[in-house]
Amino acid sequence: MVKQIKAGFGSWVNKFSRGKYRTLYLDLMVRCLSGTIYQDRPLQNAFASKEYSAELRESGLDWPSQAHSMIGVKRLNNLRTLAETAIRRRVPGDFIETGVWRGGACILMRAVLKAYGQKDRRVWVADSFAGLPPPDPANYPADEGDGFHGYTELAVPLDEVKQNFARYDLLDEQVVFLQGWFKDTLPSAPIDKLAILRLDGDMYESTMDALSALYDKVSPGGYVIIDDYHVVKGCKKAVHDFLSLRNLSPAIQEIDGVGVYWKVVG
Ligand SMILES: C[S@@+](CC[C@H](N)C(=O)[O-])C[C@H]1O[C@@H](n2cnc3c(N)ncnc32)[C@H](O)[C@@H]1O
Repeated sequence: MVKQIKAGFGSWVNKFSRGKYRTLYLDLMVRCLSGTIYQDRPLQNAFASKEYSAELRESGLDWPSQAHSMIGVKRLNNLRTLAETAIRRRVPGDFIETGVWRGGACILMRAVLKAYGQKDRRVWVADSFAGLPPPDPANYPADEGDGFHGYTELAVPLDEVKQNFARYDLLDEQVVFLQGWFKDTLPSAPIDKLAILRLDGDMYESTMDALSALYDKVSPGGYVIIDDYHVVKGCKKAVHDFLSLRNLSPAIQEIDGVGVYWKVVG
């Protein structure tokens, strides 16, 4: 009897320490990926101030010079929480981000899978790895005049993104890269189900292409995250055009004044 009590207590202690170390690991990942740990300066020719600002980095309002994600602490933590929730609730499916830049948000999703010992889910990493497409106003009038394709800082080559995963020891067969324009890669991607669909392609076209190709793959209980909802008009319009086309009205939740998310109901 004493032996049984000791064994029960031992397994509870193990579980508790596993949870504690998992939290410490993921906390540290967010600090590294956002650049708050070394307080790296923003890129000098893009938005925002010359010096590091904790406030801007918190909400992902600058483009870091070194850090592997530009989405900031709050949106990284939101992604982490939703990924952990999907795992705990056993929502079936892989995780994907469409629009990855240096790869930081996808690296975090891979880290969450690692922390939970999840071996049967993959992280899909979709990007041109060459920046954004020029606007196509004939088909997508909402993108008229969009200048994102002119930012060379947004073109991060595939090899560099792979190296970034490797720096955290997170580059393996559970990470799958989809290189090319979303309109060419996403409709035929061999993805079965998704538990997390994270969109960060900024433009109307990029948002619409990702929603059209992937929305139906999100499992009930899974999450859709829209990074640029409040800061890129075309992105928000694409979301609402898509939702009204499908007659959907999900409960949209705020993250940080920039991004939003919702849970897909069955
Ligand atoms: C704002 S960045 C993504 C930031 C990233 N999620 C992070 O964690 O820092 C936008 C990315 O979307 C990609 N992108 C946008 N539209 C695309 C499209 N239609 N096809 C392929 N890649 C696209 C760009 O190449 C760029 O890497």
